[in-house]
Amino acid sequence: MKTIVWIHGFPLSSAIFEKQRTIEGVRHVMPDLPGFGGTAPRSPLTLDDYARIVLEDLDTRGIDRATFAGFSMGGYIALVIARIAPERMDALILIDTRETPDTDEARKGRYETIEKVRAEGIASVVDSMLPKMLTANAPKEMRDRVREIMNSSSREGVMAALQAMAERRDASDVLPKITAPTLIVVGADDPITPPADAERMAATIPNAKLVKIAGAAHMSNFEKAEEFNRAVSDFV
Ligand code: MLT
Repeated sequence: MKTIVWIHGFPLSSAIFEKQRTIEGVRHVMPDLPGFGGTAPRSPLTLDDYARIVLEDLDTRGIDRATFAGFSMGGYIALVIARIAPERMDALILIDTRETPDTDEARKGRYETIEKVRAEGIASVVDSMLPKMLTANAPKEMRDRVREIMNSSSREGVMAALQAMAERRDASDVLPKITAPTLIVVGADDPITPPADAERMAATIPNAKLVKIAGAAHMSNFEKAEEFNRAVSDFV
């Protein structure tokens, strides 16, 4: 049976994929990155470190090859895996993510956020990210669940991930070399990694299929799980 490894985004946990467990015919592996979803934090970490942690998790499970599905920061990590361990990649699913690094301004903002989190905890990050995750039409219970998932992130985990994302390298050179079949999914109303990012990746990855999901913001897999799961089932 094929394995899909679901790599979560920031500041979230593997719980964001709870609606993907119903996708049949595949084995799901859903790790929590250090400092998220109740796991112990580690610091400092680079995106390459996160990628190696995901690969080591597969090693301990005896899984050699898998489909890597990365959401947002998880997509940045999946693109590291495409660079450092392409032989382990059966297929790739990039969900509301991008290949380009932070702009200077975005990087500066990350370091300011690290200091705010150090002083005050993660509440300001949760408050600023939540409105971008789901559209304004999303039901209250869905928004509450996302807040709950975000609140399971530790201060140290959030600070380490912010630094890793700020320092991430440009993965543009990786895209044309990806030989694994690739599915790119984006919420049509994603304000963080908008459809233009997904279109650019789809035009550069040799064997890529793009699916835009109407009525979804950043967390397209969570807000429109049925449409998202159909796209993944068709792909696998
Ligand atoms: C995420 O959802 O993982 C983050 O929004 C990614 C980022 O901040 O670049």
